[in-house]
Amino acid sequence: MKKVRIGIIGMGRMGLTHYPIINTHPAVEIISVSDTSGTILGMMKKYIPNLKTYTDYKDLLNARDIDGVIVCTPSFSHYEICKIACENGISVFCEKPFTTSPAQAKELSEAFEAQGLVNQVGYVNRYNPVFNNVKKLISADIIGKLVHVKAEFYSCTIIKSQKSKGWRSKRENGGGATYEMGAHILDILNYILGEPIKVYGSMMNSIFSEDVEDMFATNLAYANDVTASVFVDWSDVTYRKPMMKIEFFGSKGKIMADFYGMKVYVDEAHPEFNLIEGWNTLAKNTMPDSVPFYVRGNGYTHQLYDFADAILDRTKSVICTFADASTTQEIIHSVFNNSQNL
Ligand SMILES: NC(=O)c1ccc[n+]([C@@H]2O[C@H](COP(=O)([O-])OP(=O)(O)OC[C@H]3O[C@@H](n4cnc5c(N)ncnc54)[C@H](O)[C@@H]3O)[C@@H](O)[C@H]2O)c1
Repeated sequence: MKKVRIGIIGMGRMGLTHYPIINTHPAVEIISVSDTSGTILGMMKKYIPNLKTYTDYKDLLNARDIDGVIVCTPSFSHYEICKIACENGISVFCEKPFTTSPAQAKELSEAFEAQGLVNQVGYVNRYNPVFNNVKKLISADIIGKLVHVKAEFYSCTIIKSQKSKGWRSKRENGGGATYEMGAHILDILNYILGEPIKVYGSMMNSIFSEDVEDMFATNLAYANDVTASVFVDWSDVTYRKPMMKIEFFGSKGKIMADFYGMKVYVDEAHPEFNLIEGWNTLAKNTMPDSVPFYVRGNGYTHQLYDFADAILDRTKSVICTFADASTTQEIIHSVFNNSQNL
């Protein structure tokens, strides 16, 4: 069997999530990892003696012994790493947010397409069957003409005073609630509704962080008079795990969706979608979504298997390309550009 040779850069929380997942793909061989911390590299080498380890990611990329690399470093470093990977003809799965500048995102998107390399960004919620079901129902006008969307995202990421510790405490590093949490919900809106024509009236505020926003609100306007309001708070102690809630209001019904399921109200039955008149409840576990190996959520497995499969067979596609993530990057920066404070 032809093998896909993989490297991983950044062995923190996401690197340690992605390693065991991609390691279960039958056609994948993990060749190398890189981290600036010798502690994690030493530990990995102890248990996986054949693994190549590098403290400088450039050495991993310049070794030219891998087909694809998974980039899990702090967000400000994604651009340089992706650029050097491209120069070495290496396909990239890059964690979100893609970059810290729309211009860099566009440049990378064009460079990878020109080289014919697989390019993907880890906007994992695009692999959630609930949001794919919502996308299908909205596209089919099941709730009539879409009028407004209310989108919220909560987590307990920062719940005590931050004295500027760690990369997440500075926006230029990719820190703050907008890059870290907001990117996900702005991306899922981009996936379901397409690119907005306007982003306006953004507001940011902090509870614990000194230099970045802990919460933000923004408004989006789309073609056909569709509007959306977004609120994100990464300092909400009432949520043990991150929770995204999106409501779609239409002229003939509404959809309420979160990570785990959806409720659909329609004023007439739609047997082709298995919907009765009135309320319909659809739990995520009733939607086709099986994976051979589970860490943190099925979407994490689906997205990495897609990455490896697309390297093996270039006719296969991935759901979130660099071009898709570049549009989301534009939306994120529009929020920053018109925000009233911070
Ligand atoms: N998709 C998701 O659900 C999700 C969740 C959390 C984080 N993320 C994203 O993943 C990325 C990493 O986040 P994290 O939570 O794993 O951060 P982390 O701080 O836990 O890990 C980052 C790791 O990168 C290493 N590192 C830093 N600079 C490096 C360099 N130049 N070369 C090699 N290694 C380097 C650090 O030593 C650390 O081990 C960020 O872009 C973040 O936004 C995505």
